[in-house]
Amino acid sequence: MEEARGLDGVSDKLQAAVTAAVRPQRLRDLLHGTWLGHPLHPVLVQVPVGAFVSTAILDLLPGARKAATTLLATGTAAAVPALAAGWVDWSQLTPERRRVGLVHAGANAVALGLYTASLLARLSGRTARGKALGFAGLTVAGLGAYLGGHLAYAQAAGTNQAAPDLARLPAEWTEVCSLASVPERRTVVRLVGDVPVLIYRIGDRVSALVERCGHETGPLGEGEVTGEGWNACVVCPWHGSTFRLSDGAVVHGPAANNQPMIPVRVVAGRIEIRQP
Ligand code: FES
Repeated sequence: MEEARGLDGVSDKLQAAVTAAVRPQRLRDLLHGTWLGHPLHPVLVQVPVGAFVSTAILDLLPGARKAATTLLATGTAAAVPALAAGWVDWSQLTPERRRVGLVHAGANAVALGLYTASLLARLSGRTARGKALGFAGLTVAGLGAYLGGHLAYAQAAGTNQAAPDLARLPAEWTEVCSLASVPERRTVVRLVGDVPVLIYRIGDRVSALVERCGHETGPLGEGEVTGEGWNACVVCPWHGSTFRLSDGAVVHGPAANNQPMIPVRVVAGRIEIRQP
């Protein structure tokens, strides 16, 4: 599925539609989970998944018709914000991940349709039909969940792509360059082993961050620096994630995690870094 280029036509059109539909930066940050420090979509899906699985269990028990219908209505309503957050995250993924994500979303859309039909059937008194539609929904949602797991655990969508670089830095303090070779209020990139490190300085104070963007490894060293002093931020040139240079805090998504900071010190005019 990751290689299925035939999905790209639909995928590209949907990506453009999602981007056009969710324009305000605040809304995008809200749905990405930038304010939370973790992606929001996996948090939101817990409610519909829990409600739908519980509905299936109650459907197997006698005398639980009302409780099952209540849970099903809860799950169906809770699926809407989960779906919105998922689409916004999906629109900023690489093509391979978007292909899998498209089928994941398609399966979940079919499941939601089945659950909605199940709810309507139950509300009109056709309980047996409602139960059958509910079990069909659970089966299709299971396929969608499997693909969601593949996206998260095999393709690492939504994980902090910068974190592995920290482990590849030297454990001991290691010289990077001279303080004088780093221009003030601009970012420079220096390689430590094969790990690119982003360095920013004002006077004698220096900060160092992993240079590969935590969202999809974009080159932060090529990003624009905005703002002033220690409130200055670097904007990723790939999808616009914005990180504060003093502490790595994510200010705007699509990244939902902070950019990892690297311990740094200045000794006799030389900048040194080490693993946290
Ligand atoms: S790689 Fe996507 S925002 Fe940096």
